Amino acid sequence: MSLFKSRGTKRDGEVDFSRLPRHVAIIMDGNGRWAKRRGLPRTAGHAAGAETFRTIATYCKDIGLEYLTVYAFSTENWKRPAEEVSAIMDLLKKYLLEAIGKMERDRVKMKFLGDLSPLSKELCALCRKTEEISTHYEGCQVNICLNYGGRDEIVQAVRALAAECAAGQRNAASLTEEDVCAHLYSAGIPDPDLVIRPSGELRLSNFLPWQSAYAEFYFTDVLWPDFSKRELNRALADFQSRSRRFGGV
Ligand code: FPP
Repeated sequence: MSLFKSRGTKRDGEVDFSRLPRHVAIIMDGNGRWAKRRGLPRTAGHAAGAETFRTIATYCKDIGLEYLTVYAFSTENWKRPAEEVSAIMDLLKKYLLEAIGKMERDRVKMKFLGDLSPLSKELCALCRKTEEISTHYEGCQVNICLNYGGRDEIVQAVRALAAECAAGQRNAASLTEEDVCAHLYSAGIPDPDLVIRPSGELRLSNFLPWQSAYAEFYFTDVLWPDFSKRELNRALADFQSRSRRFGGV
């Protein structure tokens, strides 16, 4: 894993769109600070963040990226004030209702990574409906991490594998990395090549820890609501300037 702070040396024109990473993952951080700086409630920051998500997801589809994964709500985010949690859930609901109406036109596939069981029945049903519609499309896949925690995901996979071993369907000694991958929420999705975290924080915060083992990291001080297509291009250009060795030479 290589950790680089944004060097700010690349310009939009320097992205080679013919060799994009397959999978970009983003921690949409900084909504609260963005709102605070404007004297607005935190919920206004999340609303602005949802707009940025729309812009970036559409851009990823337009440039031909295969997978975009975003962190919308973590297993730890329930600790936030009830009003803020409910505002984020409402934004998700609003987005999904709009997305369902546009999916046929946009051909964007959607998948949810996380334990959806504590969500409202309505939101859960919307998530399942968008996933079901998505099975009819090829093209850019947007994964939304919702009530997602990387450690929680690994624990769930371990539990499932342990149960299969106990039932005699598997031999513990011959378990492989592929067996673990197949039991993660992200089963079937390639690992992220590039993980982006805006807002100046330099940590992973339980976001795709297994899947990011060989990811490149890009950090920028820009707050998520101010993150633009141009900023994504900077991250892509920076990614393209790196040499990935995956433990080789
Ligand atoms: C982190 O910023 C952001 C969140 C926990 C919520 C992200 C949710 C959205 C962008 C809206 C809904 C999503 C979709 C996909 C439509 P923070 O509040 O921790 O910011 P801070 O660190 O500045 O306080």
